[in-house]
Amino acid sequence: MVQPRQKRTATQDIIPPLDLVIFGGSGDLAARKLLPALLIRYQTGELALQTSAQFRIICLGQRPLDRESFHQFLSEKVADHLDPSVAAAWPNFLSCIHYVCLDAASPKDYLALKAAVREDNSVVRIFYLSTPPDLFTGIVENLASAGLVHKNCRLVLEKPLGRDLASARAINAHVQRYFEERQIFRIDHYLGKETVQNLLALRFGNVLFEPLWRREWVSDVQITIAEDIGVGSRAGYYDRTGALRDMLQNHLLQLLCIVAMEPPTSLSPDAVRDEKLKIIKALKPFGPTEIANNVVRGAYRAGMVNGTMTDAYVDEDGVPAGSTTETYVALKAEINSWRWAGVPFFLRTGKRMPERVAEIVVRFRALPHSIFPGVTGAVHPNTLHISLQPDEGLRLRLMAKTPGEGMHLRATELELDFHEAFKTPRM
Ligand code: BG6
Repeated sequence: MVQPRQKRTATQDIIPPLDLVIFGGSGDLAARKLLPALLIRYQTGELALQTSAQFRIICLGQRPLDRESFHQFLSEKVADHLDPSVAAAWPNFLSCIHYVCLDAASPKDYLALKAAVREDNSVVRIFYLSTPPDLFTGIVENLASAGLVHKNCRLVLEKPLGRDLASARAINAHVQRYFEERQIFRIDHYLGKETVQNLLALRFGNVLFEPLWRREWVSDVQITIAEDIGVGSRAGYYDRTGALRDMLQNHLLQLLCIVAMEPPTSLSPDAVRDEKLKIIKALKPFGPTEIANNVVRGAYRAGMVNGTMTDAYVDEDGVPAGSTTETYVALKAEINSWRWAGVPFFLRTGKRMPERVAEIVVRFRALPHSIFPGVTGAVHPNTLHISLQPDEGLRLRLMAKTPGEGMHLRATELELDFHEAFKTPRM
């Protein structure tokens, strides 16, 4: 259940009138993530002082639909993704949602967008590019040519920002011609997850772990994001992207950085970014030998998920015949630093896995010396299990004596369930 947040009052920071323009507004990401998340903000009060006249979402898509048919199309598409506790607010929320039929590559279509947004420069205008990265530069060019970019605009870019270093640099250079850095937001939605933010609290709000958080005491770290869903309707984007670019170089590397970085001097974005960058720079480079020894890629075959037969990746709608795009990747990374030298970080992610699980497991070293010779029960190393989804919480595995006669050891767990502890919604 979503707990109502305190309504904002006139003296609190009021969100100014807003036109949120979503490129890819009829697409998968909008329906699965963006609109359900905005609905929660709308319903829990963060957009409380916004009436539908002040807060407008303008979805862009290529389907020739009028507003009413778009609402119908969208309502069906989002139905399975709305948090049940706010779903009843969806019909009201639709009053904020507008639709413009636009081909992002067609400059003349931007006239229709210009007619849809408010001219007044005090209205914050956000362009959210929920599209494949090869469209970014063309969209920004077309927005600028149509006179749609002003100082009160923001540009949000969805990862991946290109295919490689050269294309990422080209995208950055291009958007910076029209937007100042303060106006550009490069999004990784994993950073918005409560448990991911909680990693900062766990590491830097407690003294307990810090002395142990290093090569002397940690034997390995495993970061896993397994999804049970397949590629769905996104083959056009996904087949050119693959698991390495879609998940690993962003979500998994962000998690790796937060787990491994030194304490930042503050929580300011630059201070945190600087520490993460040091980790990225210290990653042991992968040459052909390391790739052969330390990386596995694969694609899902036909099988059974949650009791339903599912197709192999290559047989999914829109996947080109003979595709070798990976839907699974696992690799062993190492960080060349005093703190982490020699500690393997195992990263893995895949679609159509047996269950949806995202977690970080820190395994501590075995006992340096056991005083329990002949004791029944193996002495397991301690592990800290940080669960990101579907449940959010921590489990610390400790050895304990089982009650009763004699010395019998057993692994037990100290468990913290964030939803129970803080009575917050499960997302
Ligand atoms: C997105 C990827 O960034 O993250 C998707 O493009 C993936 O392929 C999604 O399904 C997973 O996010 P979450 O929050 O559901 O784990």
